[in-house]
Amino acid sequence: MSALILLGAQWGDEGKGKITDFLSERADLVVRYQGGSNAGHTVLVEQEKFMLHLIPSGILYPDTICVIGNGVVVDLENLINELNGLQERGINADNLRISSRAHVVLPYHKVLDKLEERVGNIGTTMRGIGPAYTDKISRQGFRIADFLEKDPQVINKFKLQLNLKNKLLQNVYGEKGFDAEELLEQIYAQMQKLKKYVADTSIIINKALLEGKNVLLEGAQGTLLDIDHGTYPFVTSSNPTAGGACIGSGIGPAFIDNVLGIVKAYTTRVGEGPFPTELDDVTGEKLREKGCEFGTTTGRARRCGWLDMVILKYAVRINGLTGLAITKLDVLDDFDTIKICMAYRHHDTIIEDFPENIAVLEKCEPVYEEMPGWKQDISGIRSFDELPENAKNYIKRIEALTGVKQKLIAVGPTRNQTIVSGELF
Ligand code: GDP
Ligand code: IMO
Ligand code: MG
Repeated sequence: MSALILLGAQWGDEGKGKITDFLSERADLVVRYQGGSNAGHTVLVEQEKFMLHLIPSGILYPDTICVIGNGVVVDLENLINELNGLQERGINADNLRISSRAHVVLPYHKVLDKLEERVGNIGTTMRGIGPAYTDKISRQGFRIADFLEKDPQVINKFKLQLNLKNKLLQNVYGEKGFDAEELLEQIYAQMQKLKKYVADTSIIINKALLEGKNVLLEGAQGTLLDIDHGTYPFVTSSNPTAGGACIGSGIGPAFIDNVLGIVKAYTTRVGEGPFPTELDDVTGEKLREKGCEFGTTTGRARRCGWLDMVILKYAVRINGLTGLAITKLDVLDDFDTIKICMAYRHHDTIIEDFPENIAVLEKCEPVYEEMPGWKQDISGIRSFDELPENAKNYIKRIEALTGVKQKLIAVGPTRNQTIVSGELF
């Protein structure tokens, strides 16, 4: 048996979709364990581009079972649209399974997300993620299983809950409320389309592991967006870090063999919050242009900056990373010099451990080490040995500083633009 967690080591958008798709050929199961349609995972097969939000990035392989785990919050409308979009392109998603325990993102969650943004100013994706997880934790949420049949007890609870939400929307925010009957009708109609995919997915995953199959747990977002370990409050409302994978899929930690950290060769962030290596200049603009750094979910321009080793060492610690996949190395092809942030300067102090206090982080200045660039197009290279010497040195420096070996390097967005250095399954 072999379970591999694949997760973002930075602030999301590291290329998790591409690497998941690449590894899916050898995976029997691909499981999303947290997040929702705030995620935007891009898979490029030759010239065909797929943008996945809720559906695991293994879906292009018909023999790979793709699970939306219990830790995910599911927007029924978005999921149906995503399924329709795939079906229009000839992808039959019969290999999809949805956990009956996953919570549902309801229309009022999306409205509340927008309204709460006026106060919170987090720069959320407005997909209702925070309000849906809030309801889950405060035991006011609804799970997929609740809507499989018209259960009078659930309908009653739903009406009571909606009454509270309407009071909040109308009396606090001065907005329109929702009609319970209309909303329920809409949900039951949506569930009719999704019913066939619903299962107790923990059973499916555990069975596969006991049969010796390869299970890939696909994280969304990234380590620094984790509700516990990220740059709180500028985070998402779930646990993208390795600890979240067992909780969000219903397996025990002893099944986990490897934790692969997806590391973009530089750093990006979407939304608000501190970002010590952010480049607000032509270099940042060059990274954004060359890296096409515009959000997959919201289209927002991503903030860009140099690679931050303080962050990566933190990601190694929090997740227990056993390997790295370094993506978008080709984006650095045209730079004379490349910088790595080795530590932070906070007033007169040098900080090497990622600070837990956001007020401190906001005032941290990066301390850089500079390396020569390689000034060569590497997008056609398929083996580590063929990489230019300075590109190899950059990778080796990352390995030395993190103490973790790279297993994969991505030199372009398509499936085949990948250099494999170590077996993962
Ligand atoms: P995810 O959320 O981690 O799956 O990442 P996104 O899909 O949101 O963003 C990553 C972007 O970079 C996508 O447009 C990918 O197609 C693209 N990408 C992934 N790997 C590479 C790479 O090695 N080189 C280049 N140039 N683009 C890449
Ligand atoms: P993938 O899986 C990058 C960010 C938002 C915002 C914060 C909270 O594609 O890497 P939320 O809507 O989750 O309440 O927003 O988290 N964010 C992401 N940033 N990639 C993502 O997903 C993200 N999902 C959420 O921009 O700052
Ligand atoms: Mg993304």
